[in-house]
Amino acid sequence: MTRPVTARVPAKVNVQLAVGGLRPDGFHDLANVFLAVGLHDEVTAAPADTLRLTVEGADAGQVPLDRTNLAARAALALAERHGIAPGVHLHIVKDIPVAGGMAGGSADAAGALLACDALWGTKATRAELLEICAELGSDIPFSLVGGAALGRGRGELLTPLETGGTFHWVFAVAEGGLSTPAVYRECDRLREASGAGASSADVPDPEPSPALLEALRAGDATALAAAVSNDLQPAALSLRPALADTLRAGADAGALASLVSGSGPTCAFLAKDAEGARAVADELAASGTCRAVRITSGPVPGARLVDAAPGARLVDG
Ligand code: C5P
Repeated sequence: MTRPVTARVPAKVNVQLAVGGLRPDGFHDLANVFLAVGLHDEVTAAPADTLRLTVEGADAGQVPLDRTNLAARAALALAERHGIAPGVHLHIVKDIPVAGGMAGGSADAAGALLACDALWGTKATRAELLEICAELGSDIPFSLVGGAALGRGRGELLTPLETGGTFHWVFAVAEGGLSTPAVYRECDRLREASGAGASSADVPDPEPSPALLEALRAGDATALAAAVSNDLQPAALSLRPALADTLRAGADAGALASLVSGSGPTCAFLAKDAEGARAVADELAASGTCRAVRITSGPVPGARLVDAAPGARLVDG
């Protein structure tokens, strides 16, 4: 196949992020409830002699273009498994905030995997794609699957969740990103400093909230707002105290819930409906507490091919 192939992949917000103790392997066990939302990156794979990466979008300058980029690593992993040369030009159109706690890097990896699989005709099974995703990063399997899901283990062991409706969100994008490992380290440091301890022996096993799962199932935004939680939020606020102003501005603007998205620094605000989201967004934009404001909704499907060449396999989200 020689025509370029494009994959479109959503961002995520964690409506619950329960973080267990630090494991011997450096990760934390999670009860991680993901919701895919309608901000998307697009990854195009075009034939090339070697692996090449280009990025466009407002934050493109912050994206590494070498082989540390997760999209490049995904292409290399697929090529290696199938014993082929990783000849591909990957072009990423970035709309998901970079290092923002919305799984933008993970989205690019999942997109690169799908697009390269179609371009190279490697015909990887769904199980194989999920396995490669999990090897590359804890959030990447969810970028492939989308919708709503509970992530256990370090977040990679997914159970799809039913949702009874669409939830309306506003995202406040911060100036600059936060490093996920640094936020987890700060979470451990705060736990140690409180005297409770940070290891798996000290911290209760993370469990999904039954009220939260029921709110998702019912499509009930008010009930979901009452149940959202993020154990990484104190750590993100400790590293970036100004986020407290952003969260307060959203709450004052009438958001049903205000929380840091994943490891931050993007802040997420749940609204009652589309109109409520517009009102929250307008006030947030006027508050001067963030760099940009985005309105969207979820759940939305996971990674999918949008510009498949004839004969390419379309992948369900
Ligand atoms: O899996 P991923 O590469 O995205 O993780 C990045 C870093 O975030 C890990 O190296 C680890 O420091 C932290 N992390 C963690 N526990 C998880 C997921 C990530 O401590 N469940």
